[in-house]
Amino acid sequence: MGASNGHDPSLRESATFDRHAIAEIQRAAREGIYDIRGWGAKRRVPHFDDLLFLGASVSRYPLEGYRERCATDVVLGDRHASAPLHLDIPITIAGMSFGALSAPAKDALGRGASEMGTSTTTGDGGMTPEERASSKTLIYQLLPSRYGMNPDDLRAADAIEVVIGQGAKPGGGGMLLGQKISARVAQMRDLPEGIDQRSACRHPDWTGPDDLEIKIVELREITDWEKPIFVKIGASRTYYDVALAVKAGADVIVLDGMQGGTAATQEVFIEHVGIPILAAIPAAVEALQELGMHRKVQLVVSGGIRTGADVAKALALGADAVSIGVAALIALGDNAPEHDAGYHAIGSAAGYYDDWHEGRDPAGISTQDDELAARFDPVLGGRRLANYLRTMVLETQTLARACGKSHVRNLEPEDLVALTVEAAAMARVPLAGTRWIPGVAR
Ligand SMILES: Cc1cc2nc3c(=O)[nH]c(=O)nc-3n(C[C@H](O)[C@H](O)[C@H](O)COP(=O)(O)O)c2cc1C
Repeated sequence: MGASNGHDPSLRESATFDRHAIAEIQRAAREGIYDIRGWGAKRRVPHFDDLLFLGASVSRYPLEGYRERCATDVVLGDRHASAPLHLDIPITIAGMSFGALSAPAKDALGRGASEMGTSTTTGDGGMTPEERASSKTLIYQLLPSRYGMNPDDLRAADAIEVVIGQGAKPGGGGMLLGQKISARVAQMRDLPEGIDQRSACRHPDWTGPDDLEIKIVELREITDWEKPIFVKIGASRTYYDVALAVKAGADVIVLDGMQGGTAATQEVFIEHVGIPILAAIPAAVEALQELGMHRKVQLVVSGGIRTGADVAKALALGADAVSIGVAALIALGDNAPEHDAGYHAIGSAAGYYDDWHEGRDPAGISTQDDELAARFDPVLGGRRLANYLRTMVLETQTLARACGKSHVRNLEPEDLVALTVEAAAMARVPLAGTRWIPGVAR
């Protein structure tokens, strides 16, 4: 007998029809349309929390925290590009569109990333002059929608990212609802103001991997073979997708797991399509290793990265760097307790607010309303993001030193064990206390 209404133990909540399921049926019956929201998957799926580091002991030798160096730099895109990215830390800021986010929020992402020597990324809707100015290293996305696509901006960027999909919605396109199509957003996207916009789910000028190869060559020619070309995919058939992207000529693979954030997508998509990043990394690494390209084509992973522990575990599984979206917005001040009254006024609460598509964000981050956007201070936001990144780097180094590594990239699967059989099978590391990796013959 389980009571979960918090009051009367004789009342039993259904595990199948839990309170969220009931509320959603009631909402659908009222409104007649699926729910749209931002953020990433909210239900629990196997994740980095299901892994542990072994640390050092008799058989391994740790490094001294305050005296011995543990480096964190990473080079992205040195396979073909003459000007690869040299980043000081292996944590980058993921592509988030101007339109989804306010111009000051994009500016703040650039400030925080630049202070820490890392990159940030444009998004659906093009590049703003503010983010170009504040970002030392800026990656320019080429998306299926082509909104805001401009060859001059391609050349003004430090790298190009061809977006094939996002972890939150592999196979689906984006949305930007009319509330957020301000005059500036409309002008950048060549769209009418105030009209709901649905982005394309596939590129208009190609139908398969051979066309991707042609597109990559075209982008290299436009940018003089200088800029690294990233290819971003949502985690689904990862082994094959990575192999095809590498064959098409990608310098860097960006792999976004199902927990990955979005600005606005149908909830059914967010929660039910794609695979967790924990399961996708080993499949990507396997494809890269089989092609002899692991560490030659770099792997940047995302989808629910929150702490230095997540970063260290992703690196240990074989990623070269990670990327963050939702966590960066939280660091800027999204969902902060000081806005709780504002969140309550629009039917939410600090820590829960995910209606980013509505453009009513009291924190002034996911909005195009000038009055709300003016509440957000990009200098302060940038400083908070830099502090958060700094903390994650320190955490990552702490764990790497405990595993005896003088560079965070030397973390390896051998440093990890899994807490659950599922995580062991997906991450391809042994179940804690055993030598058993489910599915791997010994
Ligand atoms: C507000 C917001 C806007 C986004 N816009 C884009 C976009 O324009 N293009 C894109 O490729 N991904 C976009 N994403 C997805 C991120 O690039 C990234 O894949 C995802 O946020 C990573 O997962 P995480 O949020 O758990 O860190 C967006 C995510 C958020 C939260």
